[in-house]
Amino acid sequence: MPEVQTANARIVLEVAGEGEPLLFIPGFPLDHRMWSAQVKFFSRSFRVFAPDLRGYGRSSAQAAPVTMHDLARDLIEVLDQLAPNQPVTVCGLSMGGYVAWQLVHCWPQRVARLVLCHTRSAADSPETARGRRLAMEGIRQSGPEAFLSAMLERLVAPQTKERNPETVTAIRQWMQEAPAESLVRTLDALAQRPDATPWLEEIRCPTLVIAGSGDPITPPSEMRTMAEQIAGSQFVLLDGVGHLSPCESPERFNQTLEAFLSKA
Ligand code: MLT
Repeated sequence: MPEVQTANARIVLEVAGEGEPLLFIPGFPLDHRMWSAQVKFFSRSFRVFAPDLRGYGRSSAQAAPVTMHDLARDLIEVLDQLAPNQPVTVCGLSMGGYVAWQLVHCWPQRVARLVLCHTRSAADSPETARGRRLAMEGIRQSGPEAFLSAMLERLVAPQTKERNPETVTAIRQWMQEAPAESLVRTLDALAQRPDATPWLEEIRCPTLVIAGSGDPITPPSEMRTMAEQIAGSQFVLLDGVGHLSPCESPERFNQTLEAFLSKA
């Protein structure tokens, strides 16, 4: 896979296809593999970029504390090298959405369209931030297993566990490969991320918001309210999926995204 040296990291990414650039940003604590069905499908008509964020997959470690802005800057530097001066369709899931807020707020001219999957604009509540700090302590003291098992329980819908156990096995494997150091640093970055809600009214590009009916992490009602604050955005609720619709129901996810891309 190609790699790009940025000012502060080495970013390894999958690049496939020809056409307008389409960037897929993974959620926590996953890497570019969560987008494999999308890379295959959309590389027929787009130039697809699926990076491993700093600290994950084959990209360089998080050697120091990071912020969502640092992760976004890495991606801008990757795009500067691989798709200079071209506006990009940005598709981020959950933490990938938090990185997407940074891109659209700080580099709006680079974002042609925005796709926000299973994410939120609000910062952590004090209770959520406290939970993250407890998780960081737990990982430091006893390793990541307990944290990852509890998280996996909430990531996928019961229907996915029943019908696609091999998908759940793959997700578990990807999560287990994330370095403990990255989990701890990213949990800290998540707890400290800013509230992006005031930025929603600035968004001028076509925007699609995708929620899952069985997602307890970013509930559809919260995502619908968020979508209502983005002028002209489209909100789609996928039934029977949890927090990871690109993996849980790749065909429906791809159809939804394709329909949006063909119109916007
Ligand atoms: C993710 O899927 O990226 C995380 O659930 C984000 C979060 O914990 O806020």
